[in-house]
Amino acid sequence: MRVRARAVREFLVRGALAASVLAGCAPPDQSALHPAGMHAERIAGLITLFIVVASVVWLTVMGMLAFAVVRGRRRTAPALDDASRRRARMAVLAAVSLTVLILAGLFGSDLYVGRAIAASTEAEPELTITVTGSQWWWEARYEHVEAQMQVSTVNELHVPVGRRVLIKLDTRDVIHSMWVPNLNGKQDLIPGYTNTIWLQVDSAGVYEGQCAEYCGHQHARMRLLVIAQPDAEFAAWLAQQRRPAAAPADSLQRRGLDVFLSSTCAMCHTIRGTPAGGRVGPELTHLGSRRTIAAGTLANTPENLARWIRAPQQVKPGVRMPATPLAAEDLTALVAYLRSLQ
Ligand code: CUA
Repeated sequence: MRVRARAVREFLVRGALAASVLAGCAPPDQSALHPAGMHAERIAGLITLFIVVASVVWLTVMGMLAFAVVRGRRRTAPALDDASRRRARMAVLAAVSLTVLILAGLFGSDLYVGRAIAASTEAEPELTITVTGSQWWWEARYEHVEAQMQVSTVNELHVPVGRRVLIKLDTRDVIHSMWVPNLNGKQDLIPGYTNTIWLQVDSAGVYEGQCAEYCGHQHARMRLLVIAQPDAEFAAWLAQQRRPAAAPADSLQRRGLDVFLSSTCAMCHTIRGTPAGGRVGPELTHLGSRRTIAAGTLANTPENLARWIRAPQQVKPGVRMPATPLAAEDLTALVAYLRSLQ
């Protein structure tokens, strides 16, 4: 008996914990309940409406249940005459009607918010970015009428604050889903079909997102950052990203570039401005400017970069990148060169 009581308590504690996480009492950073854009704001309003209505319904039902239990204990069996039968039937009918009305209301508000989000985006975008999902990383290509002005970055989406940004979603392999809870709902990346989603960020900051559709072994480590910047800062970033890679500044970095070009690295990765033009893995032209590596798995530090190159399978088992066995000095040089790619 005591075992069962403990199990019940455990269940309640876990339930309360899960509920507090769902209610957003956990870290506020990555949460649909802390909207930072017009789309997320509408969705957060909808969530609040659902929670309030559901809470009122639940409390009412529980209250009536408690009332019935307490009253039923005190009383002897009531006489079931015609009048009380009729009353009971009317009460059930009223409760069913109310339930249908509430559900219809919630359904209607859901449709309304969905349409409002779609309608808010009929205007021309001020910036268009194509985001391509791969197992397990993101590429963001900034469209421009001139091909050489296009630029792409990896696992990091920079956007100007307050601008209407259209995101076109593609995938290279399986179905993924882009979700930045503070900014908008989820949208799937489907093979052979281009989906779209809009972002309009209210205030400068870094917003975390991730893949929200199970896509294989490292689905959980397919994260991305949305970095919202004021116009001038964003323009400076874009201009910097358009530049080819900086030439090695010293002999160590030069050796690092040689290591890169003579090892298997160059078969999969592109560094614009060098002969490396592989298209299998993420482009590395400005790797040094990124905050994370391996799609948000590690902070972009020299130690982590070395660890990642040496044994990616230990960091992210199943990742497509093979280990690159290098002599210690070669690895140091390679890391120094990659870090210099600002
Ligand atoms: Cu990509 Cu889950």
